[in-house]
Amino acid sequence: MYSLPDLEPLKDFNAIAVLTSGGDSPGMNPAVRGVVRAALNQNIRVYGVQKGYSGLVAGELRVMTSASVRNIVQRGGTILKSDRCPEFKDPAVRRQAIDVLQREGIDALVVIGGDGSLTGAHCLAEESDIAAIGLPGTIDNDIFGTEDTIGFDTAVNTALDAIDKIRDTASSHERHFLVEVMGRNSGFLATHVGIAAGAEMVVVPEYEVQIEQLGQQLSDSRRSGKGSSGIIVVAEGRDPGLTYRLAQQLTQHGEEPRVCILGHIQRGGRPSGHDRVLASSLGAMAISYLLAGYSDIMVGVANGAIVDVPLDSVIRYRKGLDPKLFELALLLHK
Ligand code: F6P
Repeated sequence: MYSLPDLEPLKDFNAIAVLTSGGDSPGMNPAVRGVVRAALNQNIRVYGVQKGYSGLVAGELRVMTSASVRNIVQRGGTILKSDRCPEFKDPAVRRQAIDVLQREGIDALVVIGGDGSLTGAHCLAEESDIAAIGLPGTIDNDIFGTEDTIGFDTAVNTALDAIDKIRDTASSHERHFLVEVMGRNSGFLATHVGIAAGAEMVVVPEYEVQIEQLGQQLSDSRRSGKGSSGIIVVAEGRDPGLTYRLAQQLTQHGEEPRVCILGHIQRGGRPSGHDRVLASSLGAMAISYLLAGYSDIMVGVANGAIVDVPLDSVIRYRKGLDPKLFELALLLHK
């Protein structure tokens, strides 16, 4: 797995809090467990915040013990619950959250979530003397500064499990299936799933879909006897209903495709072994970074190691889909 940095403890903490925020991802529970157990090992009091930033603003905190995180390493979802909190963009709302943390004598906050959640952590670090550490938790794997995110591996495997089954019926009926995976703004999940499923085509928000070309390609392979059935993986994109519209357009090319939307199934389920180790390592390392005096950083992964990345760069830059990987997804089915 990923190698862990050596960090020298320089600071003491009285109490820390941990929350999960945004769309949940499989592995958030082992991450929470990692944070809680590593902090308790250092005799730091730990609070679990319920329902992300909304719960923080409302003061919904509970003391976490070692037993609070017993038997959760294998569970999907998040025992702390999660929420999207657009109100947190308002500095006055963030001030209420800071007041709650200060009232409880909490010196640091660990936030597990996607880019919106990490933006909230960055603002808190800038606007108070509370240390903030972010951990990348999203099935989308679209966070700048980290090659991997908690939940991505599980979501890829969940989609593959479904697609392998769909392929059986696609083949029996000589049909093409459009399988929609998550990814509103990014095609990481679709591209990885496409490669691993041996998909005939992958559609991602980063590149415009050439429907004429796709229709032609499907009819050609049917005519030549090369492929009378197949899988087209489509990232949901920003445009609701995209996959159904694509299917409709393909019927104009003589195809009779079927649509399968995998949807939120990809966000649930037991975290994979990979995600459990990743989440546990990131959770425990969040405490090591805090003790070493770090704040306003995300703990992520680069070049086979756990690394720290300033939160302002995490939220300023966009992680781009590697065009070579996308090309590979298109090339391998030929
Ligand atoms: O958390 C990321 C994500 O799963 C995206 O892939 C998806 O577009 C979005 O969340 C769905 O969010 P919600 O559950 O709020 O509809």
